[in-house]
Amino acid sequence: GIVHQIIKIKENHIINKNTGDFFNMSKREKWSSEFGFLMAAAGSAIGLGNLWKFPYLTGISGGAVFIIMYLILMFTLGAPLLLTEMSIGRHTKSNSIDACKKISPKWGIAGGFGVAGAFVILSYYMVIGGWVLKYMTSYLFGTIENPQQYFSDFTSSTAEPIIWLVVFTGICALIVNAGVSNGIEKISKIFLPLLFLFIIIIAVKSLSLPNSIEGVKFFLIPDFSQKNWISIFINAMGQVFFSLSLGMGTLITYGSYLDDDVNLVKNSLYIPIFDAVIAITAGFAVLPAVFVFNIPPESGAGMIFQVLPSVFNEIKFGRIFAVIFFLLVFFAAVTSAISLFEVITAYLSENRHFKRLTAVIMIFIATSFTGILSSMSFGKLSNIKILGMTFFEFFSFLSDKILMPLGGLLICILAGYIWDRVVFKNELSSGGKYKVKIFKSLRFILRYTAPLMIIIILISSWIMDLSD
Ligand code: PHE
Repeated sequence: GIVHQIIKIKENHIINKNTGDFFNMSKREKWSSEFGFLMAAAGSAIGLGNLWKFPYLTGISGGAVFIIMYLILMFTLGAPLLLTEMSIGRHTKSNSIDACKKISPKWGIAGGFGVAGAFVILSYYMVIGGWVLKYMTSYLFGTIENPQQYFSDFTSSTAEPIIWLVVFTGICALIVNAGVSNGIEKISKIFLPLLFLFIIIIAVKSLSLPNSIEGVKFFLIPDFSQKNWISIFINAMGQVFFSLSLGMGTLITYGSYLDDDVNLVKNSLYIPIFDAVIAITAGFAVLPAVFVFNIPPESGAGMIFQVLPSVFNEIKFGRIFAVIFFLLVFFAAVTSAISLFEVITAYLSENRHFKRLTAVIMIFIATSFTGILSSMSFGKLSNIKILGMTFFEFFSFLSDKILMPLGGLLICILAGYIWDRVVFKNELSSGGKYKVKIFKSLRFILRYTAPLMIIIILISSWIMDLSD
């Protein structure tokens, strides 16, 4: 009888002996609500990119000119790609590699960039995540006397940063192991609203400092005498990709847990709006404070670790504000890191048939090792260079400048040229339930505008990065 035709080969998987068909019988996870999805997806987008990169990129890119470009690109390029990735995910209900394969069998590689990229990003992201934890606890139990010295002593040491990065990754592993709706969604529904609240507290405080108006002016008044337009443009584009978690399979994976009747177009606008609002609020929180204390806004990636602590030391209740600030950065970092974790977890468990726990442990161990290299590149391994870059710089170059744009490019081509347009449109409209007026423009962007821009950016940023 039928029972004999079916052999159980692994937990949850059966194979039909007659046809050889392979079924995954485990019920795929789903978000428990649209709000939960939105918090998780916004949580992925809102991260160190908004709080750590955005203020300093705005600083080195001459202020408001950068912001204007960033906002334009956010909605002309970022949102369309976000929408496309979500549609691919929901349509195929698969991890990023299988999703792309289901659109077109030879195209698994488009999702492969995501899995590889997620791994690389995670491995350096968790280093900074560890720093954030360290700073949070330092302020919780004491204070930081000499921020510059403290930062270089801490980051160049070996054991302590490694312990913190392992703790950070461990927290992410626990959340992801708990599952999509039980872990990721639950945590995002708590962390994201708190993050909103905390960043407003910090921004209000920062704006209330005397002289903060200088920072606001710098932030909001465009300096059109800028000469390096091209590099500002490249920075803005890179920031949009990174900040919206594009090209890394994140939105494919998160979209794959969505219900068929969720309005994708609407969500593809909410996520960039949240993301941009947080980035700009972070600018208001960080830059005025920086100006008040006469610190050059170009002080770079160390801004939140070296510059802000000097500010916290000067103001009343500085320790409390410091804890709130680093806690909010921690929330942002965790909700992004778990989305990277989930991209790899979904692939390992669905495509490679590992148990979720096994997959999570494998990722935890593998990224920790790579993370240690990045971490030590601020200290003992600072002399080891790949293409003139330290491990940390190399990993961020590899993911931000190579894997991410290439992944994004392939997704554009896959959805713009290969995916059947009727099927695509049907997915966007949830089978005709919603009107999709933007379909023509979306396809135009996917076919022409986006690939062209990505290629220009790819080439020019390689030239710029590798030549300095
Ligand atoms: N968007 C996250 C941030 O801004 C980083 C990220 C990139 C997360 C790619 C997932 C995928 O910090």
